[in-house]
Amino acid sequence: MTDAIETYLAANADRRLAAYLDFLRIPSISAQPEYAAACREAAEWLAGQLEAIGVEHVEVCETGGHPVVYGDWLHAPDAPTAIVYCHYDVQPVDPIALWETAPFEPFVKGDRMIGRGSADDKGQIHIHLRATEAILATRAALPVNLKFVFEGEEESSSVHLDAWLEANKERLGADLALISDSGFFEGNRPAITVGLRGICYIQVDVTGTAFDLHSGTFGGAVQNPANALAQIIAALKGPDGRIRVPGFYDDVVALSEVDRAAFAALPFDEEGYRNELGLPALVGEAGYSTLERRGARPTLDVNGLWGGFEGQGAKTIIPAHAHAKISCRLVPAQDPGTIFELLRAFILEVAPPGCSVDVSFLGGGKPSLTSIDHPATQAAARAIEATFGVPPLYIREGGSIPVCASFETILGLPVVLLGFTPPDDHAHSPNESMSLPNAETGIRTVVAYWDELARLPR
Ligand code: BES
Ligand code: ZN
Repeated sequence: MTDAIETYLAANADRRLAAYLDFLRIPSISAQPEYAAACREAAEWLAGQLEAIGVEHVEVCETGGHPVVYGDWLHAPDAPTAIVYCHYDVQPVDPIALWETAPFEPFVKGDRMIGRGSADDKGQIHIHLRATEAILATRAALPVNLKFVFEGEEESSSVHLDAWLEANKERLGADLALISDSGFFEGNRPAITVGLRGICYIQVDVTGTAFDLHSGTFGGAVQNPANALAQIIAALKGPDGRIRVPGFYDDVVALSEVDRAAFAALPFDEEGYRNELGLPALVGEAGYSTLERRGARPTLDVNGLWGGFEGQGAKTIIPAHAHAKISCRLVPAQDPGTIFELLRAFILEVAPPGCSVDVSFLGGGKPSLTSIDHPATQAAARAIEATFGVPPLYIREGGSIPVCASFETILGLPVVLLGFTPPDDHAHSPNESMSLPNAETGIRTVVAYWDELARLPR
């Protein structure tokens, strides 16, 4: 890093940390309607930050849902143009009792920032804001053209984003999209994510009578919606970990020998991983390694299950209704819409009689693979090595970022996933945290990345 950038970053360390804390105090939970105003507040806060650091044409754009924050800096006529994508929305905080302190009262503990969104994904927005700020403050110009797109619905399947991308195709012209919403490999080894799974999220509602019944008076004569739901869920997956929905695997692209060798070559300490989770065993689809099952094979998991009496003690009822939230992680070339139809047909087919079953679509996202060999990915690898001191691993991750496929299909752009969160960040869990050394070095990586990109032959 140049002395000027380091001097600037050193002089502004406290201010930088304070801004990060301010951002984390805004409870921008996209999934819960009561936080809609907070999402807007986060968008406006971000717009203010972009303006303050010298980004132009800053706009809080309406989408029909939570706003997208756009801003650009386009004064490098002979250099490439990159879209920078992150999301300012965060996951809900439940179960609140397991947090050390309130999720939106962030604090620094050792070398970690703790708080909802500290890693996923506000910490990565922090990195980009501060990298851009440092370059503009010290050099008065960026080496490349940047178009910032910070969205507010990623944790809710980016429902309105595709329409916004379509409507803004013209102003989003670029050479590549850089997504910072991924992280490092186990052991906090620098990594570039080159594969993401897609997702198909559904809800199953099973209804019996209009109100709960006495389970003695009626038990044996009527269907129990909770039992029926359990039967449905049990039918979805076999003991071998295979999903039993007919057609589910039809579009799955089989792993090649090269893919499997790449997974096998990763420095993965499976016992350490299991121990850290405090589990007696790791389980999954037969015939695949843990990393393959996590990064490149589809899954089906119950995310929530409720119905009947959940209070203390015993209450003898047959519940009027029971519900489950279920999601499938998808791999190339599965399509969320197709998978939804297959799931719905199968669930209705295996549903036991005497109740009504409703299957609804809650959200989806397509899987994606990005290129290791693309010059823009290789530029990211050089920036990582120059700042973290080691070359990155290339990993396929189990999580989903719906916009990744949209950048490719709607805008026709190559995508680079450059993210810095540590693997034990507890994203989506209580006590989410970000490694501050990762964030600090990450700022330097992003600075180095724009310089690397500017040097690429056009
Ligand atoms: N940052 C994650 C995605 C991710 C996780 C990338 C792990 C790489 C490794 C992202 O914010 C996320 O959690 N996305 C949701 C998307 C869903 C709601 C459509 C996810 O994967 O559950
Ligand atoms: Zn997330």
